[in-house]
Amino acid sequence: MSSGTEQGEAGAVGADGQTLTVTDNRTGRSYELPITDGTIRGIDLRQIKVSEDDFGLMSYDPAFMNTASCRSAITFIDGDKGILEYRGYPIEQLAEHSSYLEVAYLLIHGELPSREQLDAWSHEITIHTFVHENVKRFMQGFRHDAHPMGMLLGAVGALSTFYPDAKEIRDPLSRHIQTIRLIAKLPTLAAFSFRHMRGQPYVYPVNDLSYAGNFLSMMYKMTELRYEPDPRLERALDILFILHADHEQNCSTSAVRSVGSSGVDPYSAVAAGIGALYGPLHGGANEAVLRMLRRIESRENIPAFIAGVKNGTELLMGFGHRVYKNYDPRAKIIKKATEDVFEVTGRNPLLDIAVELEQIALEDEYFVSRRLYPNVDFYSGLIYEALGLPVEMFPVMFAIGRTSGWIAQWLEMVDDPDLKIARPRQIYTGPRTRRYVDIADR
Ligand code: CMC
Repeated sequence: MSSGTEQGEAGAVGADGQTLTVTDNRTGRSYELPITDGTIRGIDLRQIKVSEDDFGLMSYDPAFMNTASCRSAITFIDGDKGILEYRGYPIEQLAEHSSYLEVAYLLIHGELPSREQLDAWSHEITIHTFVHENVKRFMQGFRHDAHPMGMLLGAVGALSTFYPDAKEIRDPLSRHIQTIRLIAKLPTLAAFSFRHMRGQPYVYPVNDLSYAGNFLSMMYKMTELRYEPDPRLERALDILFILHADHEQNCSTSAVRSVGSSGVDPYSAVAAGIGALYGPLHGGANEAVLRMLRRIESRENIPAFIAGVKNGTELLMGFGHRVYKNYDPRAKIIKKATEDVFEVTGRNPLLDIAVELEQIALEDEYFVSRRLYPNVDFYSGLIYEALGLPVEMFPVMFAIGRTSGWIAQWLEMVDDPDLKIARPRQIYTGPRTRRYVDIADR
């Protein structure tokens, strides 16, 4: 383990052979901290003290804006250049040539599968799509108007009670079967929550359909003996799942890792991720985009809306990103998929507003100077709406795709030699050592 040393002693150097010299102006002492992979270790700051009984220096980083919480070999993002890669493969290539189940395999195993491996993987996932009948029964117990994301959150957490072997997180066989179950059952639970919201009977999985095709069947099958998904919708949905599969240490993935670091089973850890994704700042921006487009109503109103954005009374939803300061590569792919979906479902006039809004914004100095580009949510809501989904289902769709990423990150974490239970420090700001006052005297 690397640690810093006071200057004068032999300085510890990082694996890159680089160091950082810090001078504490409170004491005049200097410290040499190793730099590895462009980072210093937070714990190396602890040696910087004003006195022997001083706790030592900490860093304050609310929202982890500049803190790497783990080492990971799963997803690479270069936000300045607009690059997203899963295990080194550019997202554009995966969206064009791969399938969601192949991408899930890649994220989890680190390599693309051979034909035999992919067939075996797809088969295993397909034969685990059913859920215990009691899962169906307790889902039926939710209120008639229950939010489907809340239902999904509860149902995934409850799976841990159906598979108590899942707590054997050190057992590779147990980890494998829980991985399969989670990827297989998420669409089933998601579709059940949708049918529940509609007051319609739940539809069981059909195992000779594709992953996306079976999901469409569980969502939309009515009285027909067999639901035949339109291959163009099936493909568009599969692409959306691919694009949402992972995005390194975002809010929900950090939740999965943080909760998982306690050693809990993966169902409970993934349920925590679903909870994080439920929030409007994470899984809900595409809904805001739809509301915004409806409010703009027609192309003639776009200039007035843009003027509102520039004078600070409006926000162009679906634009801007904490990490991407360039076109979000996922937005480009979704824009193209949107056109394909509308070929089947008929064109939504909101698409024309969105396209023109994008064109105007990309040429406007306000957006150019702030490096604001469309993000993944700018077009995805339009596809979901075209598929007949109410806005409550949007984060549920995100959760289905993200499940493979959450599990890949959880599996990587469980085997990480640096793993410790997540336990941030705080800066205490409250009162100290007060005398308890009897209630009669307050
Ligand atoms: N419309 C208008 N102005 C914007 C927007 C926007 N969408 N986004 C940022 N700005 C301005 C912001 O006002 C600031 O201007 P100034 O320098 O004059 O104060 C400047 O751009 C920098 O923005 P910021 O707020 O410092 O950027 P951030 O990294 O804190 O925020 C964001 C990122 C995504 C929260 C923000 O861009 C935003 O609110 N976008 C709209 C909501 C949205 O589309 N969210 C989906 C994110 S992608 C899905 C996911 O990954 O979960």
